[in-house]
Amino acid sequence: RFLQTSIANDQSVVPSFAFAFDIDGVLLRSSKPLPQAHRTLSYLQTHRIPFILLTNGGGKSEQERVDQLSQLLDVSLDTSMFVQSHTPFAELANGTGKVNLKDKCILVVGGAADRCRRIAEGYGFTNVVTPSDIITAYPAIWPFVYLDHHGPFARPLVPSVVSNQQSSGHPTPKVDAIMVFNEPRDWALDIQLIIDLLLSIGGHLGTLSTKNGDSNLPNQGYLQDGQPELYFSNPDLLWAASYHLPRLGQGGFQAALEGVFNAITGGPANNVHLHRNLFGKPTHATFAFAENRLSQHRTALQGSDAGKLKSVYMVGDNPESDIRGANEYRSPVGSRWDSVLVRSGVYRGGKPAYEPKVIVQDVWDAVRYGLGKEG
Ligand code: G3P
Ligand code: MG
Repeated sequence: RFLQTSIANDQSVVPSFAFAFDIDGVLLRSSKPLPQAHRTLSYLQTHRIPFILLTNGGGKSEQERVDQLSQLLDVSLDTSMFVQSHTPFAELANGTGKVNLKDKCILVVGGAADRCRRIAEGYGFTNVVTPSDIITAYPAIWPFVYLDHHGPFARPLVPSVVSNQQSSGHPTPKVDAIMVFNEPRDWALDIQLIIDLLLSIGGHLGTLSTKNGDSNLPNQGYLQDGQPELYFSNPDLLWAASYHLPRLGQGGFQAALEGVFNAITGGPANNVHLHRNLFGKPTHATFAFAENRLSQHRTALQGSDAGKLKSVYMVGDNPESDIRGANEYRSPVGSRWDSVLVRSGVYRGGKPAYEPKVIVQDVWDAVRYGLGKEG
């Protein structure tokens, strides 16, 4: 028997706790299930203990990813118990977020083929362009590219009304926001296009602001010439894939972009900062979004009289995202998030950069810890 706990053995007891599981390095290594993953999730489902999967991964629609995870883990999952890196972006298209970008022209970066464009359109964004569209329309914008990688996924650009500002002489899109949905596949092309837009006049591709690095500018991050806002879905510098050493993630791309941006503009020494809107673990925005989805899922599982969710055990392999996020999260509904670090992913031993409540071997031990705490 797993554990002699009242909760696990008495179906009438509605647990006031739940689990949040990171995926890469906790349940999977790339697409290979880790040994205890199926056993652990099955046990929790048998005993009606709620959990969600909270990942900085992405690049597929929530439904596609959940279908794939259900098959890989041999557990029945659905989107009500799943949050991935760009899931909160949907609020920027449905009017529930801080801004409404639904009909704005957004450059969606990252992911394979044009999957992320289709995800963005599935969220409700109506005016999505991709680097493939741009490089196919303007091959000279980046000389070092394999055009045949982009052609099949390109759509014709809808030129903006080219104002009287100088431009490249072509009708070009006016980009209002840049959104990195998933790890970029062509860092060089994507960095070039993002830099072009961050230095542009008002997001008009092919223009160049003359306000660069003006130290008289109010220091509000950008070059103050109407450039587009930048959104990232995942800050992970490293993550646990199938290779035995951690791999660069979207945070690595951000570091490369910032390096080029600072080299061109003079960076902070020149009173110019790369301003970004960050999502993904460990940000508060993503943990609050996840807690809300977990609460809805728990109510669906346990009924509306399930009582208050008092504690959540965040099980992760990355101290910089999973552990830091849970440690720093202050729930607006008062639940306590305890961080549990596993040794099956990025973390390999030693003093972690962010101290978890406990360090255990794997996801099975993590659930034993949580159930033990709940008695
Ligand atoms: O892109 C995946 C990587 O950033 C880590 O994902 O599941 O460990 O949060 P995860
Ligand atoms: Mg992980």
